[in-house]
Amino acid sequence: PVPVVVLISGTGSNLAALLEASRTGDSSFEIVGVIADREAAGLAHATSAGIPAEIVRLGDFPDREAWDGALAAAISRYAPQLVVLAGFMKLLGPAVLEAHPGRIINTHPALLPSFPGAHGVRDALAYGVKVTGASVIEVDAGVDTGRILAQAALEVLPEDDEASLHERIKVLERRMLVDVVADLTRPR
Ligand code: GAR
Repeated sequence: PVPVVVLISGTGSNLAALLEASRTGDSSFEIVGVIADREAAGLAHATSAGIPAEIVRLGDFPDREAWDGALAAAISRYAPQLVVLAGFMKLLGPAVLEAHPGRIINTHPALLPSFPGAHGVRDALAYGVKVTGASVIEVDAGVDTGRILAQAALEVLPEDDEASLHERIKVLERRMLVDVVADLTRPR
């Protein structure tokens, strides 16, 4: 199976879905390491699956460039063929991007190019859209500007708040992310 590293900052529900899919009989990918930029709750999914998990904190480095280099080194130690950002809430720097050209993907809780950034669900709700969803994209140096690989849409309900809408998006999102990762790692 193709080695995959997952980067997280949060609860890791997308990571959990990837781990579950990777454990099925003939999975085309294997999660070989999980890296967070903070004490993320989702790290527990990795440790309980016996997968190496580590934290590379921006605050532990003198500047962003040093952090970027350390993160690139940490990722490269696992020699992944694909890097998946699953709720990783920091912009990647050039060291990471240049080490894995075209092989870093991100999942985002809105229909890009609408509502990029850290608050996709909140921003879509505030705008008053009636349809939103999730996007899986290739990562480039911009904020959620990379090529779109997959999208899934759903209706916003009148009674939705940020939490309820995000929960429904995540159901679609994790299925789509698993499909994209399987697709990108399938032998051809
Ligand atoms: C996901 O909905 C992901 O799309 C979003 O964070 C959530 C993480 O959930 N990412 C972003 O907003 C990136 N800009 P999880 O930790 O439960 O997988």
